Order: sequence, then C-alpha cells, then structure tokens
Amino acid sequence: MSEKIAVVGAGLIGRAWAIVFARAGFDVAIYDAVPQALDACQQLLRENLSDLAQHGLIDEAPDVVAARIKPAASLADALQGAVLVQENVKETVEVKRQIFAEMDKLAAPDTILTSSTSWIPTSEFSEHLPGRDRILVAHPVNPPYLVPLVELAPAPWTSKKAVARAHDIYTRAGQSPVLLKKEITGFLLNRIQGAVLNEALNLYENGYASSEDLDKVLKDGLGLRWSFMGPFETIDLNAPDGIIDYAQRYGHTYRDVAKTQLPNEWNETTLKQIESERRQELKTDQLGERSRWRDNRLMGLVAHKRKQAK
Ligand SMILES: NC(=O)c1ccc[n+]([C@@H]2O[C@H](COP(=O)([O-])OP(=O)(O)OC[C@H]3O[C@@H](n4cnc5c(N)ncnc54)[C@H](O)[C@@H]3O)[C@@H](O)[C@H]2O)c1
Repeated sequence: MSEKIAVVGAGLIGRAWAIVFARAGFDVAIYDAVPQALDACQQLLRENLSDLAQHGLIDEAPDVVAARIKPAASLADALQGAVLVQENVKETVEVKRQIFAEMDKLAAPDTILTSSTSWIPTSEFSEHLPGRDRILVAHPVNPPYLVPLVELAPAPWTSKKAVARAHDIYTRAGQSPVLLKKEITGFLLNRIQGAVLNEALNLYENGYASSEDLDKVLKDGLGLRWSFMGPFETIDLNAPDGIIDYAQRYGHTYRDVAKTQLPNEWNETTLKQIESERRQELKTDQLGERSRWRDNRLMGLVAHKRKQAK
C-alpha cells in the first residue's frame, strides 16, 4: 500500500502540493475548511495535470494521478494514517498556531507536520505544543510541481529524525530539499530574492536604468545561468583557478559596491512609477493570461532540464 500524505488547505499551494505527491505515487488526502474550495480544487487539479501531461511532465495519464488525490470530509479524516501533513492555510501567526495545535492533537505521534509558510519561523507556532519535535516549515516555491526547491526550516527543538524523515519524503516526491541550519526570517530563497529586489529598486529609484532594462538584466543575463547553477558555482567558473582566484581579481570591487548598497524603503512613488511602466506593457486584465504563459514557459524549461539530466 502507498504511503499517505495529508494536504491541509486546498488553495493555490495546497493544490499544487497534492499534484507533487500524487505524481510521485503517494496517496493524498486533501482537506479545506471551506467545502466550495475543495470542490473548485477538483476541476483546477484536472486542468493542471492536463497541462503537465502535454509537456511530458507526468509519467502516467492525468486520470491515474488524479485518482490518488481524495477529498477528506474532516481534518481528522485527512490526518488518519498520514506519514506527513503539509499545511497550506492563511499566512498569519494566529491561524498557524491554531491549526498546528489542532493537528498536533489529531495526528499519530510519528506523523511529521510541515507548514508551507513563506515567512513565519517554526518556533513561532510550535513552541508550546506537546509534539513540537515533529513540526517544521517546508517552504515551497509556486508552483512546487514545476519548481522543485523546498526549504526545510526546523525550530531548535525539531528532532533530527523528523528533519531526516521529511528530507527523505520530499526527495522521494521528486523535490529538491535544502536545510536552513538555524532560523532566520525569510528563510533562504526570499532573503536572496529580497537582496536582488532591494538593489533593483535602488538602481531604478536613483535613475540608473528603466524597469524594463532591469528585468532584462535577469532574464537575458544572470537568470540564464542561474537556472542551472548558483552564485558560488558561477564564480568558481568565472576565473581560471576557481573561487579564490575570482575573489583576488574582483573581491575588492564587490566590497566597494556593497558599501553603496543601502536598504530600500519601497516608497510608494517609486512603486507607482514601476507599476505604471508595467501597465503600459501589460494591462491589469492580462495578468492572468500572462501567468499562464509564465507557467507554460516554466514547463518547457523544466522539460528541457529533465532531458539534459538524462
Ligand atoms: N502563493 C504563493 O506563491 C506561496 C508560495 C509559497 C508558500 N505559500 C504559503 O502557502 C500557504 C497557503 O497560501 P495560498 O497562496 O495557497 O493561499 P490560498 O488563499 O490560495 O489558500 C488557502 C486555503 O486554506 C483554506 N483554509 C483557511 N483556513 C483553514 C483551516 N483552518 N483549515 C483548513 N483550510 C483552511 C482556505 O479556505 C483556502 O482554500 C501560506 O502560508 C503561504 O504563505 C504561498
């Protein structure tokens, strides 16, 4: 019999996690406090699975994968017999505290409880719970069935065993887990994304380039490499003798630049200007269509990476 995963919250991210686990052969019970959300989720799941099939990103027919995902009538039913519970409800500390208290009561003692939260450290919603040693953040990137990174961010009291089991389950589900060794706001990905946004906002605000050109720096420059190697491997290959050689050649320049990289205030005037430039490129009512275009481009890229890996 297949292992069971419980997905709590059937919105954008919960739905996507259901696909990740079902595609890898796990049985999935999906639960939402709002019955209509659970109903709507069925149709959306079929659409997402059909898109994935068109790009060769699932190994079975969409119906076979969809059949592994079953709606649960209650939170208790969803959690019954699950090896791991992936929580995806509203992003506030109060809501996370409440749902984790409920889940900790209902789940069997060896069930791992994880949260998809983008910003809230595990210790903020698990500290007073009896089962706090099996609770951790597992932060995905939207949509996790296309972007495999998952950030495991345990609290100081999460057991090593629970982290290792979560790592194993996400790996078997086809994801790419990374471990945050100690808690910090924003985890890894959003801190790095924040650093890039901070600098792009500063360069725009101080009149160095247009928003269009700053986007190009990533999509036609850094982003091409970054889709298959990170910043450390990049600099390792950008000087003949590797990282130390690179640092000797260019380290002083980066240090000088870093002194001029101040925190940006995200002020309204700047944001309104960027918004207005974006709206000239893309009208508000075209955002949904463009998001589907983005997901299709991502699927093409993921299919390409899979082919290369083989
Ligand atoms: N949207 C993103 O890009 C993204 C990326 C990574 C992580 N996350 C995180 O994932 C989580 C979910 O975000 P989302 O974008 O899917 O939100 P969403 O609003 O699309 O979905 C939330 C769902 O949770 C349900 N819900 C609320 N309270 C509940 C409860 N007590 N029990 C069961 N179901 C409940 C709601 O009915 C809704 O269907 C958040 O913590 C968010 O920070 C989001």
